[in-house]
Formats: sequence, structure tokens, C-alpha cells
Amino acid sequence: MIVLGQIGIGAWGRNLLRNFAALSDCAVKTACDKSRAVLEAVKAEYKSEIGCVEDPADIFADDEIEGVVIATLPNTHAQLAIKAMESGKHVFVEKPLAMSAKEGLEIKKAAEKYKKICMVGHILLYHPALVALKKYIGEGSLGHIYYIYSTRVNLGKVRNEENALWSLTSHDISAIMHLIGAFPQHVATSGSSYLRKDIADVVFVDLGFKNDVIAHIHASWLDPHKIRQLTVVGSKKMAVFDDMSAEKLRIYDKGVDQTAGQGSYETFLTLRSGDIFAPKIDTAEPLRIECQEFVDCIEQGRIPLADVDNGIEVLRVLEAAQESLDGGGAKVHVR
Ligand SMILES: NC(=O)c1ccc[n+]([C@@H]2O[C@H](COP(=O)([O-])OP(=O)(O)OC[C@H]3O[C@@H](n4cnc5c(N)ncnc54)[C@H](O)[C@@H]3O)[C@@H](O)[C@H]2O)c1
Repeated sequence: MIVLGQIGIGAWGRNLLRNFAALSDCAVKTACDKSRAVLEAVKAEYKSEIGCVEDPADIFADDEIEGVVIATLPNTHAQLAIKAMESGKHVFVEKPLAMSAKEGLEIKKAAEKYKKICMVGHILLYHPALVALKKYIGEGSLGHIYYIYSTRVNLGKVRNEENALWSLTSHDISAIMHLIGAFPQHVATSGSSYLRKDIADVVFVDLGFKNDVIAHIHASWLDPHKIRQLTVVGSKKMAVFDDMSAEKLRIYDKGVDQTAGQGSYETFLTLRSGDIFAPKIDTAEPLRIECQEFVDCIEQGRIPLADVDNGIEVLRVLEAAQESLDGGGAKVHVR
């Protein structure tokens, strides 16, 4: 039985707590939040099953706790994660891992020094539909990837600290890099702040990879639609991952075939519009799978797919994207 503590039981932390509390091979011993009202709600729901504290230091000082789940705001992630690892705990940190690649590297240094697992909440990497899509791409069913675009829009929670880029696009960036199997070379971002000064409500992020592969992300919390959709256009087939649909993944046998003509330089383009296939996808809650992965990694001493390096890679892309946004949308090299 892996014993956990969780810091931050806000809007998203509540979902994490529900999932960790439901796993059979772990127990959440302590929930920590600086808000008394939040802790009252935890007590009402979990009775005496879960202890409640206001100070994270109480979790760090408890030798029985092996892993700490951090779901506070991103500007506190680095400090809490490092403290937890210094106290001998493995950590699960919600996305984004931190607010800069420099902070991310400090988290990595602590993970190496104290030999602790550090997992970041890039939940899409554990989503059964994305796992299936990655398999189709790996098997070559889609051919080689031409381009990917992702839409994450909603009339959603307007953040005070981080903008729509930092709040929303970690999922898309991690998923796109995972599907392409590469790190982008450059990024260009446009966006605008309407509700609050200098906090972009909407961003359009363009990513450029090797071999002319490109990707685009549209993210906003100021939009009439709720869309969570990612489209992959390949040389043989196309695929759509739609998290708001009952059919989470659709593979389209659509494309343009090139056939050689009679002259040596002559080619013909033929449109192909074949079957649409919706594979059966495991209906398990992606968050449950992600939580189980953290517990399994502690149990088995295994490095998760969404590890600290994955978290830092996303931070590097976010930093370059922010630099581009600040510079009026100019193309920025990703370091
Ligand atoms: N994976 C996802 O799909 C997803 C979705 C939403 C949010 N998130 C991430 O989850 C994290 C939390 O977001 P949220 O929407 O739940 O925010 P929130 O503001 O609703 O909750 C944060 C909670 O942390 C508590 N807190 C903050 N600092 C603390 C500290 N030092 N000690 C103890 N408690 C502290 C606050 O009191 C609050 O209850 C963010 O990193 C966010 O990006 C992830």
C-alpha cells in the first residue's frame, strides 16, 4: 500500500483526490490546502479517512507518506516539489511542471539527487484514444505525418496568474511531441488579452518540426464552443481524436494518391475518400489511469512516460512560445 499526501484540493485537485482515493493499492493519508473552506469540504466527503492540514510542512514531515501529489497553482509547483523530494517523497506535479525551464531543471536536479520519481500531469499521454492513435502512427497506418492541429477552447476558468498559453497548451504540446516523436525546432505565437491586462485569453501557436512537419494549437478560455480535438493528417490516412465525442478516435481512409503518368515527369493526383473507422477505445477514465501510473511507478521503481524531462521539454516550448507572443508573433528557435 503506497501512502500519499496531496497539496492543493481546488477545482482540479478534487478530481485527483477522488481518483487516488479510489485506487486499491494506495491510500491518501493527508490532504493539504491553505483554504479552510476547502478542507471542510474534504472532511465532509471523506470523513476521518483522510487527515486535513493547512501547512504542506506537515506532509513533508510525515515519514509514512511516500508520494506527494501537487495540484496548487503553477507558480508554487517548483518550490513544493523540491521540498517534497528533499523530505524523501516521490512527486506527482500537475501541469505545467513549473513556470520556467530553469525551475524545471531545479526540480530535475532534486529528483536525481534524492533518487525520486517526478511525474508531471500530462494526462493526454495516458488517454486510451491517444495511446491508440500513437499505435496507429507507429505501425505506419497513417503513413508519414504531414501536419497536426489541436483545438482546446471553452468558456472556461479565467486564470489570474498564468495566461491561456501556460494554462491550456501543455496538454497539446506534450501530445503533439509524443505523436510526432520529435521536439519542435521553432515556434510562433499570436494571441491577445481582452479581459485582463497582459494575460492572453486566446493563443494560436504554430510549431515547426524537422522534415516540414508542422503543428498548430488554438487555445482559449473565451470561446462559445467546448472543443477538445486533435487532427492528424498523414500521407496515407487521417485521424481525429475528439475528447468530447462518444467516438473518441476516428481514422479516415482519405488522402491524395500520386500516380506516375506516361511522360517521365508526369504525375497524377487522385483523391481517395474511403471508409471511416472508429476503433473501440478503453472507456477507463484517463485521470484514473494517470493516477495508477504514479502509484505503479513508485511501487516498481519505474520512470513514467510523463517524467521530469518531458515536463522540461514542454516548458522549453512554452518559454519560446511566450517569447514569440511577447515579440508580436515572430518565429522563435526552441532551445
Ligand atoms: N490536468 C488537467 O486537465 C488540469 C485541469 C485543470 C487544472 N490543472 C492544473 O491543476 C493545478 C491546480 O489548478 P486548479 O484549477 O485546481 O486551481 P485552484 O485555484 O482551483 O486550486 C488550487 C488550490 O491549491 C491551494 N493552494 C495554493 N497554494 C497552496 C499552498 N502553498 N499550500 C496549500 N494549498 C495551496 C488553493 O487554496 C486552492 O484550493 C494547476 O497547475 C492547473 O494547471 C490540470
